[in-house]
Amino acid sequence: MKIETKCLHAGYTPKNTEPRVVPIVQSTTYVYDSTDDVAAVFDDPTKSLIYSRFENPTVMAVEDKIAALEGGIGAMCTSSGQAASLLSLLNILKAGDSFISAATIYGGTVNLFAFTLKKLGIECIFVDADASEDEIQAAFKPNTKAVFGETLANPALSVFDIEKFAKIAHKNGVPLIIDNTFPTPILCRPFEFGADIVIHSTTKYMDGHAVQGGGVIVDSGNFDWTSGKFPEFTEPDESYHGTIYTKAYGKAAYIIKARMQLMRDFGCYPSAQSAFYLNLGLETLPIRMKQYCENAKIVSEFLESNENVESVNYPGLKSNKYNELAQKYLPLGCSGVISFVIKGGRSAAVKFMDSLSLASNEVHVADIRTCVLHPASATHRQLTDEQLVACGIEGGMIRLSVGLENVEDILDDLKKGFAALK
Ligand SMILES: Cc1ncc(COP(=O)(O)O)c(C=O)c1O
Repeated sequence: MKIETKCLHAGYTPKNTEPRVVPIVQSTTYVYDSTDDVAAVFDDPTKSLIYSRFENPTVMAVEDKIAALEGGIGAMCTSSGQAASLLSLLNILKAGDSFISAATIYGGTVNLFAFTLKKLGIECIFVDADASEDEIQAAFKPNTKAVFGETLANPALSVFDIEKFAKIAHKNGVPLIIDNTFPTPILCRPFEFGADIVIHSTTKYMDGHAVQGGGVIVDSGNFDWTSGKFPEFTEPDESYHGTIYTKAYGKAAYIIKARMQLMRDFGCYPSAQSAFYLNLGLETLPIRMKQYCENAKIVSEFLESNENVESVNYPGLKSNKYNELAQKYLPLGCSGVISFVIKGGRSAAVKFMDSLSLASNEVHVADIRTCVLHPASATHRQLTDEQLVACGIEGGMIRLSVGLENVEDILDDLKKGFAALK
């Protein structure tokens, strides 16, 4: 991004200097030389910028960076991960359509799919991600237009078989959308396994410092929208002077349609300031992801060998049900998120957690600081112990998001928690 400066320093006028960091373009609007120039941008919005409700140079610099990290053709940031999930689907589906989703996904996304999208006339068919190809195939209906799953599910920590689902989705002529929040493109690049669209809650590892919420949608550019199943891509858009997205934008049809139709109308676009913070997080993402994985591996092995622990759920452990899939999709590591069940149930878990001092008690995950959550007291508080067991959450379960502190300090803190149980 070039900037022209008019300030004089002892007779020296620097021109077209390039700032070392992405500048914050804190402006709602852009100025044109002529009315014709404005008209030309409205005819083809990719020629320049229109309005910060759906495009801004700072945000777009970050979008390009995330698209490159994922190996996609383009990206669009959103004001939250929820907005990214919502728009990724609304760009394909309308009332009367259905889509298939893995049942093991983030609870907020389950709510969005099962209740809010239902109110808009869109049906979500939940499937067991570990089911056979035939069982998943049986869930498809003639109006099914997409498939959705999470690479590494929050909080189940199951590993999603991207290739299996990409094969089934493509056999049915529909795209596969992957929520790649926990691995980030540093640990897994779903397009390399056949996914078509990737979304993220950038609130988590990408931001990494718990300073601002955000989301992003990335388009691989690989899905063919011209099969006849997706008329919104191949017929004139009456809301945008008759644009035919596949004709006008080819491989970028999906991501440009998302911006020009949905972001224009819903406006859930991040501010330049938010994108600036996100960019700072991205600059250290590879090194942070490596360290989260190293710390979490040591912590998961420590927990597994502790006599007070009933079970540990971390796909990086050899004993884990998803270890084989983890080796395929997450060879560099399985992020910093672990869950484990403490012996003694709910009261032991609470006692353990309240004795920690380095790990803070938070609803957030995927932060540089270690944090813990007791799902039975927080996100699943309204459920009885029997209901908790039915949805796979035990009273003694603790979700631990391992941070970047010295791993010995993290282990010492956990030892303090175990000592309190004696
Ligand atoms: C895997 C996953 N996807 C999406 C979301 C929603 O993101 P946000 O909280 O940024 O709206 C979350 C939030 O925890 C998440 O964990």
